Amino acid sequence: MLDTITNSQQAIELEDKYGAHNYHPLPVVLSRGEGVYVWDVEGNKYFDFLSAYSAVNQGHCHPKILKALADQASQLTLTSRAFHNDVLGKYEKYITEYFGYDRVLPMNTGVEGGETAVKLCRKWAYEVKKVPTNQAKIIFVEGNFWGRTLAAISSSTDPLSTTGFGPFMPGYELIPYNDLAALEQALQDPNVAGFMVEPIQGEAGVVVPDEGYLKKAYELCRSKNVLFIADEVQTGLSRTGKMLACDYEGFKPDILILGKALSGGVLPVSAVLARDEIMLTIRPGEHGSTYGGNPLACAIAMAALEVLKEEQLSEKAFHLGNIFRSRMQQLCDESNLVILVRGKGLLNAIVINDTEESETAWNICVALKENGLLAKPTHGNIIRFAPPLVMSEDQIHECSDIIIKTIKDFK
Ligand SMILES: Cc1ncc(COP(=O)(O)O)c(C=O)c1O
Repeated sequence: MLDTITNSQQAIELEDKYGAHNYHPLPVVLSRGEGVYVWDVEGNKYFDFLSAYSAVNQGHCHPKILKALADQASQLTLTSRAFHNDVLGKYEKYITEYFGYDRVLPMNTGVEGGETAVKLCRKWAYEVKKVPTNQAKIIFVEGNFWGRTLAAISSSTDPLSTTGFGPFMPGYELIPYNDLAALEQALQDPNVAGFMVEPIQGEAGVVVPDEGYLKKAYELCRSKNVLFIADEVQTGLSRTGKMLACDYEGFKPDILILGKALSGGVLPVSAVLARDEIMLTIRPGEHGSTYGGNPLACAIAMAALEVLKEEQLSEKAFHLGNIFRSRMQQLCDESNLVILVRGKGLLNAIVINDTEESETAWNICVALKENGLLAKPTHGNIIRFAPPLVMSEDQIHECSDIIIKTIKDFK
C-alpha cells in the first residue's frame, strides 16, 4: 500500500504519472465532503459549486443516504439479475410511482441510461410503430451531450468528443436546438422513432431553450407517433427548481432518463422510465447490465429520492436560483467581464467576455478556488454554477459575494 497522501502535489503527480490523461482537473485535491462543502488534503475548505456535474444535489455524504448505504451494504450488495433480490421490486414500485410511469429499467451510469433509451426506442419502432427493419432513425440536437460511449459520441457535434473515434453509429439525425421548424421538417420521415433532448443543455454551457419549445416539440412528436425521450440526467431531480425540468412545461416524456443525483453521488445509478407499450418490447436476454438493479443501488436511490421530497429541494433550488441569478445579473451589469447569465433553479452559467479558446474562464476558476469556491469552465468561456441544493439563503449570498469579488478583482 502507498503512504497516505498528505499534500496536493503528491496526489496530482501520481495521477499524472499513472492515470490516463483524459481529464484536465482544476489543481485541487479533495479528501472530504459534507453538505455544500469539500475540503482539500491540506484542510482548506471550499464551497462546491459543481456538485460533481449535478450528481450531488442532496449534498456531500448525506446522512440518510449514507445510512441506506451502510444498512444495505452489510446485508447484500449484488446478486446480478440471474436471481431476484428483495430490494429491486420495492425500488421499482417506488420510483415508478414517484414519477408516474408504468415501468423502470435500472442501469448504472447516465450514458447507459441514454443507450438503453435509444435501444428501447428502436425496439418500439420495429415492434409497435412497424418501421422497416434497421431503418429506425433518432433525432438529436446540436450541442447535445449524453456521455462518452460510441453510441453517445455518434450524436455529438463537439469535435473534441468525436475526432479520432469514428466510424460512428448510423440512424441518427441532427437538427439545431430550440428550432421547432427543423424538428417539424425532420419528423416528415416516417422512419423517425424518437427525438432525444436535454431540457436544458448542461455540458453545452447551460443553454436554456425558449419557453414552450419542449412542450411544442413533444406535441409535434406525438402527432407523428415519435417518442419524446427526455435526457434529465443533469437537469432532473430538483436541480432546475422542479423535480424534472420538463415539469416547467407540464408534459410527461415518453421515455425519461435519470442518473447522477439518483444516488446523491454515492454510486453510479441510472434509470429509464417508460410506459408498458414501450418497455415491454424488450424481453429477457435482450438488454441489461451485471450491476443494474443491484440491491445496494436500489436502497441508495430510494433514500436519495426521499431526501429530495423531505427537504423540498426543488422548491429550495427554485428560490435560491432566483436569488443567485439576480446577484449574477447585477455583476453582469457592472462588470465588462461577464456578458450573460442564464439558467434555471440552481443550474446556471455565466458567459465570460472572451473567446472560447481563451484561458480567462479557467483562470477565473483558479482565482475562485483561491477564494474558497470550486467551479469549472465548460466550453472555454462559460462557467457553470451548480452547487448542492442543500444550501441556505445566507450561503448562496456568501457564494455570490465570493464570485462577484473574484471577478471584479480579476486582472
Ligand atoms: C445530460 C447528460 N446525459 C448523460 C450524461 C452521462 O452521464 P454519465 O457521465 O454518468 O455516463 C451526462 C453527463 O454529464 C449528462 O450531462
